[in-house]
Amino acid sequence: MCGVFGYVGDPVDLGDRLLSGLQTLEYRGYDSWGIALARDQAIAVDKRIGRIAGVSTALSGSDIGFGHTRWATHGGVTEPNAHPHLDCSGRLAIVHNGIIENHRDLRAELLARGHAFRSATDSEVVAHLLEEQVGQGRNLASAVANVFARLQGLNAIVAMDVVSRQLVATKHVSPLVAGSVDRGAYIASDALALRPHLDQVVYLEDGQLALMDRAGLRVVDRATLQWIEPARVTLDRNLDDARLGDHPHFMAKEMAEQPAVLERLVIHQRPQIEAMAEAVGSTPTTLIGCGTALNAALTGRYLFARIAGAGVDVVAASEFASFAPLLRPDGMVLALSQSGETVDVLEAVKAAESYGARLGAIVNTPHSSLDRLVDLRVLLGAGPEQCVLATKSYTAKVATLLLLAHAVRGSYAEGAALVVRAAEALARMLEPGSVAEIQQLANRIHSSDHLFVIGRGLAYPSALEAALKIKEVSYIHAEGFASGELKHGVIALVSDGTPCLVYAPADETRADVLSGAAELKSRGAFIVGIGPEPDPIFDIHLAVPETGDASPIVNALPAQLLGYHTALLRGNDPDRPRNLAKSVTVK
Ligand code: AGP
Repeated sequence: MCGVFGYVGDPVDLGDRLLSGLQTLEYRGYDSWGIALARDQAIAVDKRIGRIAGVSTALSGSDIGFGHTRWATHGGVTEPNAHPHLDCSGRLAIVHNGIIENHRDLRAELLARGHAFRSATDSEVVAHLLEEQVGQGRNLASAVANVFARLQGLNAIVAMDVVSRQLVATKHVSPLVAGSVDRGAYIASDALALRPHLDQVVYLEDGQLALMDRAGLRVVDRATLQWIEPARVTLDRNLDDARLGDHPHFMAKEMAEQPAVLERLVIHQRPQIEAMAEAVGSTPTTLIGCGTALNAALTGRYLFARIAGAGVDVVAASEFASFAPLLRPDGMVLALSQSGETVDVLEAVKAAESYGARLGAIVNTPHSSLDRLVDLRVLLGAGPEQCVLATKSYTAKVATLLLLAHAVRGSYAEGAALVVRAAEALARMLEPGSVAEIQQLANRIHSSDHLFVIGRGLAYPSALEAALKIKEVSYIHAEGFASGELKHGVIALVSDGTPCLVYAPADETRADVLSGAAELKSRGAFIVGIGPEPDPIFDIHLAVPETGDASPIVNALPAQLLGYHTALLRGNDPDRPRNLAKSVTVK
């Protein structure tokens, strides 16, 4: 969940270049940051707590250096715990993404051999282990290979040797991508940070090791150190899609992009969706995901039942190991993920592979670890999603699942028409007048401690997603429930004035949902009805155009907007909520 960015080559104004690269990666973790660069035969370091925006560094020109944005796993958010970490001699530095599960034993070993630690992190053991390897005369590549062999867990490390002027990197699951420039090379956790600098990149695979110096990038097998000719990917260098533009936050930008994303999806992704429908339609399928992606998967279960008359199973990726043994050999596991780097998803897909299942993905990030793992994929094409909250990637996943269900039934055009209708509805809901209504609601609820969301049938996963959106950006305790569950304990939580969002689509569930709303109201709840039709039970009615089975797409926006405006009223940064990161690459 951390971001890594490094350069080696002709001298440049490296301090600022590292900060700029790291800022692109802050979505991966933003507790603290640090940079290290060579100054003659020494390493200069600048480490800070907090965000990078608006800061400047005294570190400037150099020919080699790297940096790191941190999401703390071991050791508090302090400057000493920020990466990079140096060895005792000051010749070597490392940055790390992941968790070194055997770090305690390694630290005890190193302390016993006289090493002095400056941090409480697991990562620092790598610097001291490298120091011993290099001290025995090994070059940086073999030193990194030997040290990495001792690390347990899912890790990516980049090491810098100020004497040999080399960067060496290797990984197991945590992502790394690198590329050459004239007389040099770059490396990062995500190609997004390399787009300003490189035309082509290499996505490092597990078991590979990247060597970078003035001669550029070379990739070798970590076990044999034999040279490998890696696959190169040409980058889309249109940087506009990653720029904030006139929007105040990436969350506002990405919510506003939803209509266009959906309209592109139905056309450009049709071949991938129809190819996947052939597989999904003829084999027992399990949908997996985490967080918002899991809510999309749960929505998919209802859509497949309603549209294709097919049953699909849904399992949280982090829970998949309990069910993998039940997979049928002719089964299919379809993973949903925006980043394609969520470690629980990657591990579940690898478990499915070991049981012989076919592997598919609905993923937004091309060339991500997940994209490179599966046989079949639908690339959402939603463009970079830089707000930690998933918004456009969620509605794009739900739209893809709706189109997939229709493709299985042989009615893609009908599904496409529904998705376009939903896109048009979203565009209307994003108009200032509609948004103002939600801003007023945010004013009313932003000081609440609790908020509940209920839904039934197709709107039940929408209730879960609405609660997740609101809680993760406003920090209000928000929970989503199946409306039928209210009387089984949940309603004990409701007191006078508790805000309750009620999804009331104009479908077969409406009457039962309104009964639930009445029960909440009779206990003092403040009822916000979300749906096409008003009702006297609602204290506020947020009108949502009728879109049939595409209702989960349009139902998402009121909650996204409510979360966003409530966050602003509470003084939160909607793009970088506390304790979170965009891509959860650690367990
Ligand atoms: C969504 O708003 C959250 N940021 C989080 O639940 C996210 O959906 C989850 O971490 C899965 O991420 P992925 O789609 O990149 O796999």
